[in-house]
Amino acid sequence: MSCLIINGKKKLGGEISVHGAKNSALPILAASVAVGEECVISNCPQLSDIRATINILDGLGCFKSADGTTVTVNSRDLTANEIPDYLMRELRSSFIFMGALVSKTGRAVMCAPGGCEIGVRPVDIHLLALRQMGADIREDSGKIICEAPKGLTGAEINLSFPSVGATENVILAAVRAKGITYIKNAAAEPEIKDLADFLNACGADIKGAGGSTIVINGKDKLHSAEFTVMPDRIVAVSYLAAAAVTGSQLLVKNAHAEHIGTVISTFEQSGCRFDFDNNRIYIKAPERLHKMGTIRTMPYPGFPTDCQAIIMAMAAVAKGTTIVNENIFESRFRHVGELNRMGADVTVTGRSAIVNGVRSLYGSCVKATDLRGGMALVLASLSAEGESIIENTEFIDRGYEKIERDLSLIGADIRRE
Ligand code: EPZ
Repeated sequence: MSCLIINGKKKLGGEISVHGAKNSALPILAASVAVGEECVISNCPQLSDIRATINILDGLGCFKSADGTTVTVNSRDLTANEIPDYLMRELRSSFIFMGALVSKTGRAVMCAPGGCEIGVRPVDIHLLALRQMGADIREDSGKIICEAPKGLTGAEINLSFPSVGATENVILAAVRAKGITYIKNAAAEPEIKDLADFLNACGADIKGAGGSTIVINGKDKLHSAEFTVMPDRIVAVSYLAAAAVTGSQLLVKNAHAEHIGTVISTFEQSGCRFDFDNNRIYIKAPERLHKMGTIRTMPYPGFPTDCQAIIMAMAAVAKGTTIVNENIFESRFRHVGELNRMGADVTVTGRSAIVNGVRSLYGSCVKATDLRGGMALVLASLSAEGESIIENTEFIDRGYEKIERDLSLIGADIRRE
């Protein structure tokens, strides 16, 4: 098990590029199973979650090659439709393979993904929607068996919550269904639009992705395509936060400001100033951040839950008190205890955290509790006095390519041991 060792209080500077979006590459790789032809997907980030997805594609016999950030998949001859438990357990979001496999083979068998570090992670919304499209779904000794031997049929789906994964699963099920599927109250995250753009490049007919109503006209056949995954907006925010907590100036490249509008305005409330030009964001942070009022995580375009821990690391050293309300996941405050070990003053009551900013944190030995919580500890360590040791870095490696390489390039004193 490796750990990160960081000596804080270093000014950062220069420029840094953002890698491809994990939460776009994962559904696009799963979607390639539904296409049934060769797909070449570029700008896939080199992360453990991507490797876990490639293992699933390999297990299904669709994986052709991976060269750096380019992955080639071909599901033309796909007949397998069962994903073994040990692969599902590696990556709970692999549940979106269900829609793709049923689309391509008429059947999908996998274990329920189960909970993770941030919550129970149910899939009831996914299953209700697939049943409405004609799938026969039953559970048998922990496995979910989804069958539609005569294919799926388009339906009007009203999601009870704009679930990202459920929206993606329905798109993957509908893309080759008979007739038209309407998804109402759909998730509007940019990664959903990237998925639709990929499938439309393969000949699908999907309209409205990125909004709350998506219309999919099912097609008998799709064709091969080459596609480049969008940049990772949460990684972009993470790098901007590194500048914010160290009072630095930084240029972040491959970053679409329009994807993180609510986050940018929160950063501006903390005293950060920005310049933007085509896919580059320049940030200038104040010597010390100001409090940010009340932050409420919401479905897109609201404040993203994946940035909650990141903004809390900023609030921990800001002047004044910031309130953080986590409205999406039921246990996404596990980083609070570790931040408090570094001298932060955060109190959690239910889904609300009261963050009283302190002048400085101090280096400590802490443990990453989940992906974004781990990033919050990296940010806190960059701003802390002295040396910090962060354990359980495998959580961080799920979403950030070689974090120590990237942060060293912009002046951080960080190494992995
Ligand atoms: C995606 O997870 C992302 N993961 C998450 O990013 C992100 O935090 C989340 O969307 C919200 O934006 C990937 O894209 C791989 P949801 P997902 O379904 O699809 C409840 C990261 O850090 N729900 O929108 O699982 C659920 O319990 C990860 O990169 C149901 O109740 O999120 C949660 O409370 C973490 N029933 C809420 O909806 C369901 O059937 C949002 O979940 C499905 C979801």
